[in-house]
Amino acid sequence: MERLRMAVFATGNGSNFQALVDAIQEGQLHATMELLVCDRPTAKVVERAEQAGVDTFLFHPKQYANREAYEMEILKQLEEKQIDLVVLAGYMRIITETLVTPYYGRLINIHPSLLPAFPGKDAIQQALDYGTKVTGVTVHFVDGGMDTGPIIAQRAVAIDEGVQVDDVTQSVQRIERELYPQVVQWFCEGRIQLIDRIVHINHS
Ligand code: GRF
Repeated sequence: MERLRMAVFATGNGSNFQALVDAIQEGQLHATMELLVCDRPTAKVVERAEQAGVDTFLFHPKQYANREAYEMEILKQLEEKQIDLVVLAGYMRIITETLVTPYYGRLINIHPSLLPAFPGKDAIQQALDYGTKVTGVTVHFVDGGMDTGPIIAQRAVAIDEGVQVDDVTQSVQRIERELYPQVVQWFCEGRIQLIDRIVHINHS
C-alpha cells in the first residue's frame, strides 16, 4: 500500500506535529510527513520540522493582499507535493473555502474539547469556567465553520474537583498525542467513511 502524504499546519509549539513525526519514525503510521505550513517564523514547530528534516512553507500573512491570496499560495504548495491529507494541529487561523473546497474530506483538525461544546479559543478554560465535569478531545473534518465539521473521534477527560487549567491541559495533550496519530492511521488504512455529516469507522 502506498504511504499517505501528509502536510501539517501549525502556529505554535507543535507537540501534535511531533507526535505524528514520531509515530511515522516508530513505524506506527504508514504515512510520510511532506510539509509543515506555518505562519510564525519563531514557532517551536519550525525547529521541530528542521530537526525532523521536514520541508516548511513559512509565510507572513501580512505580505499578502488578503487571506485568499495566501491560501492560494498554500494550495499551490499542497498540490505540488501531492498532499493526500491536511492535518491542522494548533493552526491559529481561520481556513476558508479556498482550501476547504478542494480538500473537503481530506482536511482534519484536533480541538481540545468535546465538540460541539466549547468551540473556538481557550476551550479548556471555557469548560472550567462553565463547570463541566468532563471535557476532552475531538478530531473532526474541517468545513467552513469554526470547529463545526463532522466528528471523527472523541476522547473524554475528567475535570476533577480543584484541578487547574494546566493539569487539564496536560491530560488533554497526552490524549491528543495518542489520538491524532491513531486517526491518521485509520486514514492510511482506508477505514474512514464520511456520509453526509456522519463519520463511519470500519474497525473490522
Ligand atoms: C492543541 O491543544 C490542539 O488541540 C489545539 O491547539 C493545540 C496545539 O498544540 N488545536 P501543539 O502546538 O500541537 O502543541
